[in-house]
Amino acid sequence: MRVVLGVSGGIAAYKACELLRLFTESGHEVRVVPTRDALRFVGEPTWAALSGNPVTTEVWENVHEVPHVRIGQNADLVIVAPATADVLAKAAQGLTGDLLTTTLLTARCPVVFAPAMHTEMWDHPATRANVATLRERGALVIDPASGRLTGADTGPGRLPDPEEIFEVCRRVLRGAPRDLAGRRVVVSAGGTREAIDPVRFIGNRSSGLQGYALARTAVARGAEVTLIAANVTLPDPAGAKIVRVESTEQLREAVLSAAEDADAVVMAAAVADFRPVTRATSKIKKTSGDPEAIRLTKNPDILAELGVRRTRAGNGAVIVGFAAETDDVLANGQAKLARKGCDLLVVNQVGEHLAFGTPDNAATILVAGGEPVEVPRGPKEDLADALWSLVAPRLA
Ligand code: CTP
Repeated sequence: MRVVLGVSGGIAAYKACELLRLFTESGHEVRVVPTRDALRFVGEPTWAALSGNPVTTEVWENVHEVPHVRIGQNADLVIVAPATADVLAKAAQGLTGDLLTTTLLTARCPVVFAPAMHTEMWDHPATRANVATLRERGALVIDPASGRLTGADTGPGRLPDPEEIFEVCRRVLRGAPRDLAGRRVVVSAGGTREAIDPVRFIGNRSSGLQGYALARTAVARGAEVTLIAANVTLPDPAGAKIVRVESTEQLREAVLSAAEDADAVVMAAAVADFRPVTRATSKIKKTSGDPEAIRLTKNPDILAELGVRRTRAGNGAVIVGFAAETDDVLANGQAKLARKGCDLLVVNQVGEHLAFGTPDNAATILVAGGEPVEVPRGPKEDLADALWSLVAPRLA
């Protein structure tokens, strides 16, 4: 596919070199179009050598090829990474002045912006309005990651990892529908841990892969994603707001708070059903005689609570549960769907070598008041996409 990589003038331009490699190594033909300021961070020879293509910034070079129109017209995807506040403003206003901005006006293919800037610039009402305008017109603007910025500052504004930006682009190139545009979705992922003492916990085998796949696919479909991650060590998906939690109580608080203005909530996390009644404040020593039995108490059922709250508040969020079953998979799933009051329930069979920690999954999606949908074994992203395709038409 023909990809235009627009690079604007921010320090994160160096990360775009890695993004460029990911495109070329997977067989895409990449034309890099840096702004003048971008070339102050990374020089033209780097872009030319890595892309194997000529690099132009101005509309006045190779004029006989009419590059200011042709590059945009011929592209299958335009990705601008990093996108500065300035390039977002120009794109929103339809201003031109260099090859990147004319390309953005002439491109009719999907356009992805990966902004990177200081938090104050990202939060400024002017930038917010420009981002909203671009999104309304169909561009995919990936929210920046939070973390260390240039200098001593930290906050939202970091360019997400190139691998994760590439993943979004790959999905867009494969024709990901934009059916979650303007929607807020909440996804929980991973497995909760209940502390026994400061060093030990009761946990489960959930890796978070399925929840992260749900977040990734939702971003590519245009959603604003809050990913509530319980003890997950995977790379952060680009564009998702990540909230880290450990225990079920923390997960409950984070989910209920994020769910308040959400259009859909997907509980992919494996939640501990029980927690120790007390948590020892110091490490339990083996020398202190016979160990005391660990007494357990039930944890709140977050999914069931979401179902009850929805009924009470009358807000139309679509609620999705997961059911990990080892026996009587479908019968247990149907009973769970009814008991927890959710719209959809993804049922999969688990065991030591099934589902947990593997990149693949197979499942049956149970639909309240409808026919079940079988999803054959395949990448967890495929199951995620199948689920979003059922969620999207149910959104209010
Ligand atoms: N869940 C939850 N809160 C809990 C337990 C589970 O929100 N305390 C959610 C999970 O995130 C999942 C769904 O409920 O979406 C089903 O989880 P599962 O463990 O299969 O169901 P349980 O209700 O715990 O039933 P059981 O373990 O008895 O099969």
